[in-house]
Amino acid sequence: MDDKKLKKMLCEFNITIDDLKQTAACVRYDIEQGLKNKPTSLKMLKSYIGLPSGAETGEYLALDFGGTNLRVVLVRLDGNGKYSIIKKIVKPLKVPGVYDFIGAQAKAEDLFDFIAGIIAEVIDGDKKKKYFLGHTFSFPSSQTNIYNARLITWTKEFATSGVEGHVVNDLLKEALIRQGFGNVEPIAVINDTVAVLLAAAYKSSDTYISSIYATGHNTCYFETYQGSDGKPMIINLEIGGFNKLVVNEYDNRLNADSELPDQQRMEKMVSGRYIGELFTYCMQDLFAAVGKIHFSSIDLSAILNDEETELPVIRKLIIERIGVEITRQEAENIKKLAAVIVSRSAHIVAASFCGVLWHIFPENIPAHNIVIDGSVFEKMPLVTDNMYRTLNEILGDESANVRLVLENGGSVLGAAVAAAMNK
Ligand code: GLC
Repeated sequence: MDDKKLKKMLCEFNITIDDLKQTAACVRYDIEQGLKNKPTSLKMLKSYIGLPSGAETGEYLALDFGGTNLRVVLVRLDGNGKYSIIKKIVKPLKVPGVYDFIGAQAKAEDLFDFIAGIIAEVIDGDKKKKYFLGHTFSFPSSQTNIYNARLITWTKEFATSGVEGHVVNDLLKEALIRQGFGNVEPIAVINDTVAVLLAAAYKSSDTYISSIYATGHNTCYFETYQGSDGKPMIINLEIGGFNKLVVNEYDNRLNADSELPDQQRMEKMVSGRYIGELFTYCMQDLFAAVGKIHFSSIDLSAILNDEETELPVIRKLIIERIGVEITRQEAENIKKLAAVIVSRSAHIVAASFCGVLWHIFPENIPAHNIVIDGSVFEKMPLVTDNMYRTLNEILGDESANVRLVLENGGSVLGAAVAAAMNK
């Protein structure tokens, strides 16, 4: 293992507090540019939905489409922030060697037929009863109302043909009709960040910012449009596309090899889909590894969780993946590398939250919950602590008012709430 290279890498992934303050300021600037329809790295997509009252009731189908697993759930909203899950089916969109609905060879029709099939299973093949469906579709889409989200571009390395440029609910409706389920009516489509905000707001008020920190990363907030003629509504920032960050050679290599070079630059530095890749590029360099080696964000988590003195988990992982025996000290250094990659991710995400907070609360920041869903936030070691550290470094005393709150399963509940708000 090349120790000199490792030292250099640790420096390259280090991010200074000045850089982070700059990130926060640029995020705020880009939001405000976007609101004036001026050039910005943020897509600032209108959701055509505001915040729920919490009194929404009824039975709805919720479709959560945006990560490796597809979820279809029948949800009953009871009002007062209460709900129950009546039936739920989760299936992967890709099973290596069996099927793949998200790769470049996959076609829209097959993908949506697969989804319609799962919806049919959830409603036990019922072709009579009327079902309203809320759809959490977690990709950048341009909307002119709550129904017609048109996919701008795939992200997170999805590549199914025939979906970009199309209204996804139309594709879904056509598939439902092909299978005789015209009784299922998609009536609302929202981004997953929006779903999480709706889910949190359904249960309690005073929540204006939500984020997904998982396979992908993105943030939305409730925009009041004070002083302009816009209607208050939730704005999906598509913050994964923010591009004013200091990048290093590994970021650039990953970017060049990705499905969409030069897009989603922030997402490629922070989200679960990519932080394992960054680590992989580093490991290839450190071990001059020939052949294909790969580490995922789950491996990063295992590395960071190895607390035993001799670091057996890390050493075993390196033997398995690279075929090299390493010393305890080398394992320690590998752990440091995993730590800087993960910490940088957490610092950047928290800095971006500061930019959103400054936009919403230009005077001073009141007690406020930022709700977050996603496995990186929920499970990755070092993330929460480093996020709070950055909030503190950027916001000073005001950071005591900001709480980062896990909102588990918001994509499903939010879809049902969106359907109820638009029935
Ligand atoms: C990607 C998508 C975005 C989504 C996020 C989290 O960034 O572009 O729409 O919210 O992943 O799933």
